Amino acid sequence: AGELDLAGRHVVVSAGGTREPLDPVRFLGNLSTGRQGYALASVAAARGARVTLVAAHTELPDPAGVDLVRVGTAEQLRAAVLAAAADADAVVMAAAVADFRPADYVPVKIKKVDRAEPEPLALVRNPDILAELSRHRAAPGQVVVGFAAETNDVLVNGRAKLARKGCDLLVVNQVGGGLAFGSADNEAVILAADGSETEVPFGPKAALADTVWDLVATRLTTRNG
Ligand code: C5P
Repeated sequence: AGELDLAGRHVVVSAGGTREPLDPVRFLGNLSTGRQGYALASVAAARGARVTLVAAHTELPDPAGVDLVRVGTAEQLRAAVLAAAADADAVVMAAAVADFRPADYVPVKIKKVDRAEPEPLALVRNPDILAELSRHRAAPGQVVVGFAAETNDVLVNGRAKLARKGCDLLVVNQVGGGLAFGSADNEAVILAADGSETEVPFGPKAALADTVWDLVATRLTTRNG
């Protein structure tokens, strides 16, 4: 990869975990730390890109040299990513987006009624942002990248997910056993819509980010010159 091979490109990266509120003090969340998404954003900036980082919940410090947009819920993340994607060359969805959200938001703190049975929690489906981005590209040559955490049959499930989502690249992590979430290191296979597979050995999240941008850069050059 050339030093500044992403110069003149605008890339959008989503990171962190969405939080879906139940009431003013409670939410449904996940364990994403945002580290992989932040590494992707920092590496893209170092390679010369203009970067919009759409960050759901994370405790990481703001990275230098990127436009940071903070969001909470999946709906907010969707709006921010779609807006930034309008003129983007590539979009990488590294955020852990909640698949479901509470059907009703209770605007006052939900009270525990003594001895009463708990109410079941009704959920509704969140929009699949990655699938939407892939289907309705802002420009024909836009490169769309997703992430998938799989616990079993990683390649088979990953291939099926790549096809279902319609993205160009899917970074597939094996999770469980301390890998991925929370760790500084990551190991992955990057599946491409053209059928190729790139194995990324266990190592820093910045190294995985570099490989993702290598694959994105190749596709940008082929499609747009
Ligand atoms: O379907 P699954 O959640 O395993 O897919 C993960 C990928 O899809 C990630 O890239 C994630 O950012 C994205 N995603 C999304 N919208 C959702 C759920 C996941 O864009 N509602």
